[in-house]
Amino acid sequence: MELIFADEEETPSGHQKKVFKKPWCILLVDDDAEVHAVTRLALKGFEFQGSELELLSAYSAQAGREFFHSRDDIALAIVDVVMETDHAGLDLVHYVRNTLENHRTRLVMRTGQPGQAPEDRVIREYDIDDYKEKTDLTIQKLRTLLYSKLRAYRDLCIIEYQRDGLARVLDATSMVQNAESLTVFATAVLDQLTSLLNLDRSALYCIVLPNGDNGEHESKTIAATGDFVQYSTDTRFTDLPEIVSQRFTQVLEKRAAQHFDDAYVLYTAAKNGGCNLLYLKHARELGNMDRQLLEIYTQSVAITFDNINLQEELRETQKELVYTLADAVEARSKDSGAHVKRVALTSELLARLYGLPESQIVLIKTASPLHDIGKAAIPDTILHKPGKLDADEWTLMQQHAQFGLDILQRSNRPLMKLGAEIALSHHERWDGTGYPNGLAGTAIPVAGRITALTDVFDALGSRRSFKEPWSDEMVTDAIRQGRGTQFEPALVDLLLNNLDAFNAVRREFPDPD
Ligand code: C2E
Ligand code: SIN
Ligand code: SIN
Ligand code: FE
Repeated sequence: MELIFADEEETPSGHQKKVFKKPWCILLVDDDAEVHAVTRLALKGFEFQGSELELLSAYSAQAGREFFHSRDDIALAIVDVVMETDHAGLDLVHYVRNTLENHRTRLVMRTGQPGQAPEDRVIREYDIDDYKEKTDLTIQKLRTLLYSKLRAYRDLCIIEYQRDGLARVLDATSMVQNAESLTVFATAVLDQLTSLLNLDRSALYCIVLPNGDNGEHESKTIAATGDFVQYSTDTRFTDLPEIVSQRFTQVLEKRAAQHFDDAYVLYTAAKNGGCNLLYLKHARELGNMDRQLLEIYTQSVAITFDNINLQEELRETQKELVYTLADAVEARSKDSGAHVKRVALTSELLARLYGLPESQIVLIKTASPLHDIGKAAIPDTILHKPGKLDADEWTLMQQHAQFGLDILQRSNRPLMKLGAEIALSHHERWDGTGYPNGLAGTAIPVAGRITALTDVFDALGSRRSFKEPWSDEMVTDAIRQGRGTQFEPALVDLLLNNLDAFNAVRREFPDPD
């Protein structure tokens, strides 16, 4: 809904604000032309909050309905009871409230024959806002009626406007759980905010980290729209346009929102001691209601940002930790870090094709690089042996599964727990002849079954100290051979039926020569 209310404040310079003013739309429904003429005369020159009236005349209930169809801004309808039928006016009221579900327009019955529709019954049974006898409505009474009904209509509209705004805040907030990244979320919220308020689409959202020892502000741009779109993520605000960084500095000093000629800068303190800055360019001045809504928005958004920051940080930390750990092991085993990345991505793909819930897919993607973490405990001489392992070496090598569990099971984090489960079970075989526990079929955890397949699929096509990479054909033949013996048949089918997607991951993250 657009803002239709004049802001009565004067700006300091004395100019009336340029706020879009619409006339108040009043509909008269009466089959007596005389009533229309008298009413128009009585309301001549009437103004409410600086806006005039737009009077619509309907000479039958049917014509009244048509106005309700074509206009959504009727503030007040004054409706005669007896027109086409004894109760045509009452039917119209029923139609507006119950069929059109319009509860906003104020409805006043005006009757010349009170006996036809007794006041008490009509007010009780119909959702109307007032009941007047034609003889009651002197000029002054009519004007008084208009003031009070327009006030009520205005308040209803404000409530609806804010309710819509709040609904958007809630929508945006619930979106966060699914947002891939802070930037995606922040940009979506900015877009909503600017469109809701009919602002210029140019806006920036920056996060300022707590002051370092040297008093310099560390900051980065999280979202940018409209004219600012080139200052995408991670731009420090000292690298933003001069006027913007000047204003940011001012707002940071005052620690409060500030209103400039052509922009509004909001300030919200963050939990970590830093703050968030929202820069909104605007082509018009903001009314009180806009500002109120902006406050509601930014408060909710700030809370959301705090949460998402935390989530993001946790996620990043975990990811870093996992890759660092896995890389360290990979580096020792002279495999490249690309192997763990490919296993992560192909495991994600396979988990999704298998139909696991999204939350589990993400966990498997993040935890699967940990499958060989236990190799950290295997001596270099075995790990780097160019040829075949002897029986003793092989016995020790097989223990990397158990070692992985030992390392990871100390943590209670879901990610680490799943990593432990994968480490322990990624060399089990569907037919029960794998190690370390000889589990078979679905007794092997699903994440282990998935990683078993993606690990071997990737290992076969890769160089090892003891082997050359196999050709694509040899790899797929081996996987097909393993269907139902080494690997779960359904997983093999999914991989082979989507081979292009799996091979694409290998091509995208190749081992260095
Ligand atoms: P990896 O190199 O990451 O291999 C993972 C899995 O891929 C292997 O698990 C196996 O199922 C499959 N795979 C890898 N290369 C070959 C191959 O040349 N032929 C066949 N048929 N399958 C292959 P697996 O067998 O349990 O081995 C676990 C780990 O033990 C391997 O991880 C590797 O680090 C080590 N390893 C296995 N065999 C040898 C070997 O002959 N020499 C050396 N130096 N290490 C070996
Ligand atoms: C209208 O726009 O006036 C009709 C529906 C409503 O918002 O209540
Ligand atoms: C009415 O329909 O007359 C009142 C309903 C409302 O306040 O939304
Ligand atoms: Fe392994």
